[in-house]
Amino acid sequence: MTTTAIIGCAGYSGQETLDRVLAHPELEPVALGSDSLAGLAASALDPRLVAAELPAFVSNAEALAAGAELVFVCLGHEQAAMLDAPPEGVIIDLSGAHRLQDPSLYLDWYGWAHPLPLALADWTYALPELYPPEGRLISNPGCYATAALLALAPLAEAIDHSSAIVDAKSGVSGAGRALKPSSHAGSVLENVAPYRVGTHQHAPEIAQALGFPVCFVPHLLPVRRGLLATCYVRSEADDLRDRLEAAYAASPAVLVLPEGVSPELARVTGTDAAEVALFQDRATGTAIVVCALDNLGKGAAGQAVQNANLALGLDETTGLRLQGVMV
Ligand SMILES: NC(=O)c1ccc[n+]([C@@H]2O[C@H](COP(=O)([O-])OP(=O)(O)OC[C@H]3O[C@@H](n4cnc5c(N)ncnc54)[C@H](OP(=O)(O)O)[C@@H]3O)[C@@H](O)[C@H]2O)c1
Repeated sequence: MTTTAIIGCAGYSGQETLDRVLAHPELEPVALGSDSLAGLAASALDPRLVAAELPAFVSNAEALAAGAELVFVCLGHEQAAMLDAPPEGVIIDLSGAHRLQDPSLYLDWYGWAHPLPLALADWTYALPELYPPEGRLISNPGCYATAALLALAPLAEAIDHSSAIVDAKSGVSGAGRALKPSSHAGSVLENVAPYRVGTHQHAPEIAQALGFPVCFVPHLLPVRRGLLATCYVRSEADDLRDRLEAAYAASPAVLVLPEGVSPELARVTGTDAAEVALFQDRATGTAIVVCALDNLGKGAAGQAVQNANLALGLDETTGLRLQGVMV
């Protein structure tokens, strides 16, 4: 059993990570960090945890110092950026704090100067199907970035880079649990709107991984969870489908759909899987690649556990939820 700590366990991604750790036969939760719940039983987070054999919450600092062999960091970006990584163990950061190699991009895109710029070189960006984890300090990709990269990375050498547009939509849990006016029911329900147009912090992460920038516009959907990215590219190549199918042929988590079948949130919501599909626009010849995933699953906790499994030499799918419900 690998002793496991979750820092920021009371947030949405921390809670989702705990859920997978509880379902994982090789991981033993030994420290649950939450500054707001420190001292309380795990069931303070969710009454269904009353029967689980879990330690009480401790502060995030105490959980980080607990000496666990595996640590999931589920904190906000700026808080995670200040973190002194423990000297041993596998650390998986679900925030954006260690995704960008160029420290100056943090001021440009996140709005704050990275407090530990030299430490960024110690972290590797890992998306299992495209960039498997290396080393023990692993930076988990963003939810939008995961969808955009699953759709576009296998095609990167076959498309006109200047043509790439990513039109993406996410459920409101993508904004986290903390209350803010933009995620009030009154703003979200029966509404759809773009946000951070042209300025979202996942844009540089996508550009870093692809090697070229894309035009990226996120939208907020009036659903709890799920994310859909519709990507538009120009290409002269006639093997785009072959490239996508080859990239994910061995993947237990990413399914390339048959011709004419569209990805849907309903099939991926609550799972750690993703669906990808390729279409061609009859009028303009534009290639359209669509990816659907759950922002808290393949977009966060599921991918983090998939990365942890690979880093620990376990079966890649252990503890993951890969099947949704049929209806
Ligand atoms: N949400 C997603 O879909 C998603 C996807 C990929 C990556 N991420 C990344 O994962 C990290 C954590 O995101 P998250 O969405 O899990 O954040 P979150 O739900 O806002 O939680 C972050 C922290 O806020 C505190 N918190 C919990 N409940 C709260 C409440 N009701 N009011 C105020 N604060 C509360 C908790 O810390 P304390 O208990 O210690 O106070 C928690 O650890 C971020 O860096 C995010 O970018 C999120």
